Amino acid sequence: MAKQLFTIFSIIIMIAIFGFSKTEKKELAIIHRQPSTGNAAIHYKNNCSSCHGEKMEAFVDRKWKYGKSREDIFKSIKNGYEEGGMPSFKTAFKDGEIYALADYILKGLSSMDKYAGSSKPKSNIFETEKMKIKLDTVYTGGNVPWSISFLPNGDILATDRGGILTKISKDKKSIQIKGTPEVVAKGQGGLMEVLVHPNFDKNQTVYLSYSKLKQENGKTLITTAILRAKLNGNTLTEQKDIFIAEPYLSTQHHYGGKMAFGKDGYLYFSVGERGKQKENPQNLKNNSLGKIHRIKDDGSLVNSNPFINMKDTPSSIYSYGHRNPQGLAFHPKTGVLWSNEHGPRGGDELNIVQPGKNYGWPVISYGINYNGTTFTDITSKKGMEQPQHYWIPSIATSGLTFVNSPIYKGWEDNALIGSLRFEYLNRCEIKNNKVVHEEILFKNIGRLRDVRQGPDGYIYIAVEKPGRIFKLVPLN
Ligand code: HEC
Repeated sequence: MAKQLFTIFSIIIMIAIFGFSKTEKKELAIIHRQPSTGNAAIHYKNNCSSCHGEKMEAFVDRKWKYGKSREDIFKSIKNGYEEGGMPSFKTAFKDGEIYALADYILKGLSSMDKYAGSSKPKSNIFETEKMKIKLDTVYTGGNVPWSISFLPNGDILATDRGGILTKISKDKKSIQIKGTPEVVAKGQGGLMEVLVHPNFDKNQTVYLSYSKLKQENGKTLITTAILRAKLNGNTLTEQKDIFIAEPYLSTQHHYGGKMAFGKDGYLYFSVGERGKQKENPQNLKNNSLGKIHRIKDDGSLVNSNPFINMKDTPSSIYSYGHRNPQGLAFHPKTGVLWSNEHGPRGGDELNIVQPGKNYGWPVISYGINYNGTTFTDITSKKGMEQPQHYWIPSIATSGLTFVNSPIYKGWEDNALIGSLRFEYLNRCEIKNNKVVHEEILFKNIGRLRDVRQGPDGYIYIAVEKPGRIFKLVPLN
């Protein structure tokens, strides 16, 4: 009898334990699988976007303070952080709606995944969407190969930001060019772009952009300058600064410095806003920072420039409202000028550059401040140009070239853009001036600084640390 009682008792206990643990598990499951309700996209737009960005800019690229699990985000939204400036949405939304917002944010975050770092490439042969490509190493040396340009015979001129200009011949021998300017190789500055004149055969002329020093009242001041010189053998002669951006500043970043020759024979180049967004890009008065400029190849005025008749305005200004344009290229078929520029955190842009136009920085932007706050609620405004494409997160664009060569089947007219941040080459298919498809090439190759097409029709890329120049050779 006692034995039977004991058995019954044990069964009851077991059922209780089993049953209880089952319900507890169920409760947990309910918490984790809380249904998403309501229209999260609309809730987000109406209640969150003003502070966190229309496209979740503040979250995509965030160092999370309170955690980024579904549960963490739920708690953040529900309870808020009054002191930190984040309102509580306890009364505004039901739990299900808050979970839906958390899911919506988590889905947005997945746009970072495609860049997620794998290890460095193990082979120099890469499978890509359209072809197999071998990267042939043309040059190794220096640290930051900022730009490459080609002499008519196919020799490469390459700058290293530290201040060195190198000539690399087809047999891969290299020699340092003498006569380069003194540069301020600090921060983002140094020896930047090199550009060979389209009529080099006749005039032996090359251009260099660099950060130029001035001492004033014991203060070190720097600006972006463009130097023109003749390349005589392996030495630059007749060096002359044909453009010096005003004002000089003590900051050490956002120099611009990209150059391109138009079919009109004029020299176009970018000057960044030097980290002074309030003072420079929207200011035309005696201010050449945050602008794209156009001058004649000897530095003289172009009479048809848009602000030529405006008092106290540098006559070289072609367009304004730029942050830090780091790619400048003419489309080989349409002759239209394109540029890419670094946004703040989020909001790198690809623009079509037209004379007299305002590209909006910092009044309109798709980016956010580095601390996660927005500096502007608006992404568009009358009288300000919209980008053809923008990147969130920022890929840190560098270099721009349009493929104009039969060597790369399926890449015709594509824009190639380097990514410093995610260390790859970005291929953009463009239709009606919009980017319709992108491909990540050579993932994790290193900070990709410049991309150019040589006179041989091959594409070359310059990669940092150590400095390397590769030729893209299709294998099929
Ligand atoms: C008035 C501006 C404002 C609004 C509106 C706002 N937030 Fe916030 N939010 C903030 C600030 C500021 C912080 C950072 C608080 C801190 O650092 O303590 C924050 C933090 C957060 C965090 C935590 C981030 C982390 O790093 O852990 C989440 C998640 C979040 N907000 C989601 C939302 C959602 C979803 C909405 C809309 C329902 C919203 N916020 C509306 C300002 C805002």
